[in-house]
Amino acid sequence: MALSILRTVLAILPCLVAGLELAVTVEKPNIVFILTDDQDWHMESLDYMPLLRKHIINEGTLFDRHYCTVSICCPSRVNIWTGRAAHNTNVTDVHPPYGGYPKFVQQGLNENWLPVWLQDLGYNTYYTGKLFNAHSVDNYDDPLVKGFNGSDFLLDPYTYEYYRAHMTRNGAPPVSYEGQYSPDVVAEKAYGFLDEATQHDEPFFLAVAPIAPHADVIFADPVQFNPAKYASRHAHLFKDYKIPRTANFNPDTPSGVSWVKHLPQLNDTVIEYNDEFQRSRLRALQSVDEMVETLVQKLDAKGLLNNTYIFYTTDNGFHISQHRMPPGKECPFETDIHIPLIVRGPGIPAGHTAGVVSSHTDLTPTLLKLAGSDRPDLDGTPIPLSAEQLASPASGEHVNVEFWGRAIPEGKYGNDAMSAMNNTYKALRVVGDGYSLLYTVWCTGEKEYYDLLRDPDQMINYLGDDSASLAADYTLAGRSFEHLVSRLDSLLMVLKSCKAKTCHAPWTVLHPDGNVKTLNEALHGSYDGFYREQPKVSFSSCQPGYLVDAEGPQEVDVWGDEYQRVTPSGGRQQSFRYHGDWSLWT
Ligand SMILES: *[C@@H]1O[C@H](CO)[C@@H](O)[C@H](O)[C@H]1NC(C)=O
Ligand SMILES: *[C@@H]1O[C@H](CO)[C@@H](O)[C@H](O)[C@H]1NC(C)=O
Ligand SMILES: *[C@@H]1O[C@H](CO)[C@@H](O)[C@H](O)[C@H]1NC(C)=O
Ligand SMILES: *[C@@H]1O[C@H](CO)[C@@H](O)[C@H](O)[C@H]1NC(C)=O
Ligand SMILES: *[C@@H]1O[C@H](CO)[C@@H](O)[C@H](O)[C@H]1NC(C)=O
Repeated sequence: MALSILRTVLAILPCLVAGLELAVTVEKPNIVFILTDDQDWHMESLDYMPLLRKHIINEGTLFDRHYCTVSICCPSRVNIWTGRAAHNTNVTDVHPPYGGYPKFVQQGLNENWLPVWLQDLGYNTYYTGKLFNAHSVDNYDDPLVKGFNGSDFLLDPYTYEYYRAHMTRNGAPPVSYEGQYSPDVVAEKAYGFLDEATQHDEPFFLAVAPIAPHADVIFADPVQFNPAKYASRHAHLFKDYKIPRTANFNPDTPSGVSWVKHLPQLNDTVIEYNDEFQRSRLRALQSVDEMVETLVQKLDAKGLLNNTYIFYTTDNGFHISQHRMPPGKECPFETDIHIPLIVRGPGIPAGHTAGVVSSHTDLTPTLLKLAGSDRPDLDGTPIPLSAEQLASPASGEHVNVEFWGRAIPEGKYGNDAMSAMNNTYKALRVVGDGYSLLYTVWCTGEKEYYDLLRDPDQMINYLGDDSASLAADYTLAGRSFEHLVSRLDSLLMVLKSCKAKTCHAPWTVLHPDGNVKTLNEALHGSYDGFYREQPKVSFSSCQPGYLVDAEGPQEVDVWGDEYQRVTPSGGRQQSFRYHGDWSLWT
């Protein structure tokens, strides 16, 4: 590939070398982004992908504190590709009226998302595989997806049928791939786009989104979520695999809240079914594993490997048998929100594990930064990638997690009780110096508090029905349970409707003086009264979408001499004169 001047940006660095200005040409990097569907971290799926390990994990950095913010396909993918929280896209479900491709379009996001911005930055952009739910053989051209120079999308209602893919190439009428294995079809299309992209001088972005290891879904009535199908060449693999028997695996006592705590214990038939369900997922991932190797080899053969970033992640996690749950996602447990992110590329340490806290909201800001653009108006911040950035990460310790609607049971033994709408919640994950916590508030009025340093499997809910005595004995960082919860609730109050800067630095909404930047700092005793009196996160009912009227108070109090109440998304609301000492409120 010849380099051309088009391919480069000129960065003129003012450099006092012998009184001369030194002109340096910096080539914009290419980006290959691989997005799997429902891949787990906690059942060790990465350990069953040797080629991913060889080419990406061993040659790049594994981000072992990476989270999705809404654990279901479409809302999560919109979050990834827009850099905005689901509460700001309002794409909160897989189908209309609250989600799916039509809602994405309706929200004006088709003109306002990563591929469009990358084209504006001089990139050629390509996508193949699954984009969003409810992007179908009927609406694929109404309107066309914007922002891609080349695209070949899987379409509903066939998206999740492993041997009956229907795809639209560059907006043309759908073509059926019946009888061919969908992840292999998508891999071939990715190789084609890679060849196409490298015929041009501009840098390129190529996203590849195979459906593996999602369930094979047939949109009949009722909808069937069957085990993932795999290519016959992988049928012999992993016959002895079992889902790790962690403390939360089909526990003797119920765990969780809402519908989870009513689930019956699984019998041996269901346990074996679930183990085989997970084996099928691991086999389906083998096609992706092979694709990773071929993509790397092709980039290498073209001499582009050293100027290409390769991202590998998934839309959301997955649970099976943990907390007695049938196969599925949609929960705030680690199984569902804590997911793989691996990045290899120029300047990224090889074989490194980075403990920075990051989320899917950060991916678009990260990609835009690589492409040379800064977007502080987005809800995420760039993830540190280079050794230098990783050495002193500026990132925070919080992840804002949210969900609206229902949990969908998958597999043969899905529980009907789950079909209720009671899966609407707000959650806050905080991972900092000396703590690793999950705090949730559910539309049912229930709450959860898990301490993952003491209880990594999330079996002890300190806010559960019978937990008063446990909570009474609980301390962290020298503070009592009540003081901890009051801070977490206030942080969640801010994050659940944050926007841009207030998502990046949520404590500054509560403490504009800048004196509090972490949970540890907020725990100071002088703030006890202030936090106790804060409006609390609550719901008045369980709703299927982001209906603000059902979501309790929307404003928080601000620490300072003057009493102010503000909306976290921006504007000041009210300001009262209050010259008291907050600590007198104790
Ligand atoms: C890709 O699309 C952009 C936006 O339409 C356009 O400016 C650019 O020329 C296209 N690149 C190629 C190689 O056609
Ligand atoms: C195990 O549980 C499933 C789901 O509840 C049920 O359909 C099945 O009959 C049970 N099997 C046995 C052997 O009890
Ligand atoms: C990438 O490698 C090629 C040869 O393999 C070399 O010519 C080029 O200078 C390298 N580019 C960078 C940015 O290291
Ligand atoms: C859902 O939650 C509401 C409280 O908001 C409760 O009244 C209702 O019984 C719950 N439904 C189910 C099926 O659990
Ligand atoms: C989100 O979308 C739904 C469905 O269109 C709408 O009813 C709701 O008011 C929207 N929420 C917000 C906060 O805009």
